[in-house]
Amino acid sequence: MVAAVRHGVPEPRWEIEEGSPSDLHGYENASISRPLLYKNVAKDSKIQTIMLATLFAMVWLAFTCGVSFSGQGEAVAADSAGIRRLWAQYSPWFAADEYRRPPSTCHITQVNILQRHGARFPTTSAGTRIQTAVRKLQAAPAFADPRLSFLRNFTYNLGTEDLVPFGAAESFSAGEIAFKRYAHLVTPDQLPFVRFSLASHHVYSPKLSVILSEEGNDTLDDSMCPSAGSSDAQTTQWLNVFYPAVTARLNKAAPGANLTTTDTYNLISLCPFDTAARNGRQSPFCEIFDREEFRGFEYSGDLDKFYNTGYGQELGPVQGVGYINELIARLKRIPVVDHTQTNRTLDGDPATFPLDRAIYADFSHDNQMIAIYAALGLFKQERSLDPLHMDPRPSRTWVTSRLVPFGARMVVEKLACGDGGEEFVRILVNDAVQPLDFCGGGELCSLDAFIESQAFARNDGQGDFGKCFQ
Ligand SMILES: *[C@@H]1O[C@H](CO)[C@@H](O)[C@H](O)[C@H]1NC(C)=O
Ligand SMILES: *[C@@H]1O[C@H](CO)[C@@H](O)[C@H](O)[C@H]1NC(C)=O
Ligand SMILES: *[C@@H]1O[C@H](CO)[C@@H](O)[C@H](O)[C@H]1NC(C)=O
Ligand SMILES: *[C@@H]1O[C@H](CO)[C@@H](O)[C@H](O)[C@H]1NC(C)=O
Repeated sequence: MVAAVRHGVPEPRWEIEEGSPSDLHGYENASISRPLLYKNVAKDSKIQTIMLATLFAMVWLAFTCGVSFSGQGEAVAADSAGIRRLWAQYSPWFAADEYRRPPSTCHITQVNILQRHGARFPTTSAGTRIQTAVRKLQAAPAFADPRLSFLRNFTYNLGTEDLVPFGAAESFSAGEIAFKRYAHLVTPDQLPFVRFSLASHHVYSPKLSVILSEEGNDTLDDSMCPSAGSSDAQTTQWLNVFYPAVTARLNKAAPGANLTTTDTYNLISLCPFDTAARNGRQSPFCEIFDREEFRGFEYSGDLDKFYNTGYGQELGPVQGVGYINELIARLKRIPVVDHTQTNRTLDGDPATFPLDRAIYADFSHDNQMIAIYAALGLFKQERSLDPLHMDPRPSRTWVTSRLVPFGARMVVEKLACGDGGEEFVRILVNDAVQPLDFCGGGELCSLDAFIESQAFARNDGQGDFGKCFQ
């Protein structure tokens, strides 16, 4: 459903005051500072204001669902143990590599941003499971480990599903980075074009470009392949390998709690959720686990993403095909050719699928981004992840916190190079330039070679889409 198609100058809908305490908590990598931001607004022309308005509206309002920033002034404790990068899909965003500009003979002519929302509260069902585990711990008459004593006074009061302010800051920071990097591409005639994927229960007011309903055809969500399997078998295997020892340790520390391995998983997940809810200050739940235990937790996420919509799921990659066909259309400025998840009505209309923009931003979800990576050929693994043994090789690039942390982003840059302006593409995931072996390139492929390489998408998943309904 198109909630709103915006033409012309967007109304800025955010309000942040200079000097308000709400900053970019924990975003050491957000290299633009607030003073700089405000200087830009103050000194610059209408164009710059429009750019800011659009980019910031797009990130600032994304998934905020009415959360306000007031009174969030705490500084973030340093991640001294380095555990935040072991929280899999619940890791706060970090740059997987330092952004490098394209070769000096090239300039960027178009960017396609695929963006995950920032940190949110647990889903309703995860929240229920987490509370069950917390109640069991709290029922223990005495704790043998002083790190658990905070539980005597702990009350679980996280919300469900909504973006937390910390997550809004992550989205905001993404917008700042994009603004700083790609501002030169935006003019009044070349406003970024933004799409969101939203479930109908999301309360949503901002006038953004297009909203794709998760109940309909939607290239930004993984809800259109009913026959796709899940990662339950693999994650359960790993649960049974890794979590019994951790569970035994906790049950010794809280005699009588009778935690199960599932409870233990849920309690570890409360560390990132509660940290985000505390605006980035480390939750006491993080203190009760050690680094090795977080590594096992990360591996749960690695397996989950690999076997849910990644290479380990037969019908995973096909769910990314619709987005890639839209990407090809934008890169070539030709109509979309796709018979999978696209909404042909929307994609056939220049108001809802323009082909003349220089910046496109699409807001999506972790599982869908994984499907798109796999359909593209990114992060291909030599072998499938082993659900019984954590693969310690550094060559294993399938690490969920680097693929889809909160605020994850994939950017496909289109470049014009040399005197002839020959067209190339480059793909960055969380700022790390990806090797493009699949189209014969190193860090760049010619646009034609890239499109040639996407035969799986161009052929509608080579029969896989039909299998989604068998
Ligand atoms: C396609 O988009 C149109 C316009 O938003 C909407 O009315 C329709 O329900 C969508 N169809 C599907 C199958 O998603
Ligand atoms: C729990 O709260 C009470 C009252 O605020 C405080 O006196 C006590 O020290 C707290 N206990 C723990 C274990 O934090
Ligand atoms: C834990 O299990 C023991 C033995 O099965 C039982 O006596 C106790 O009530 C259980 N505790 C809780 C909190 O369920
Ligand atoms: C939605 O997708 C299905 C499957 O590809 C297709 O049959 C249908 O025509 C699409 N509807 C629209 C409005 O694009």
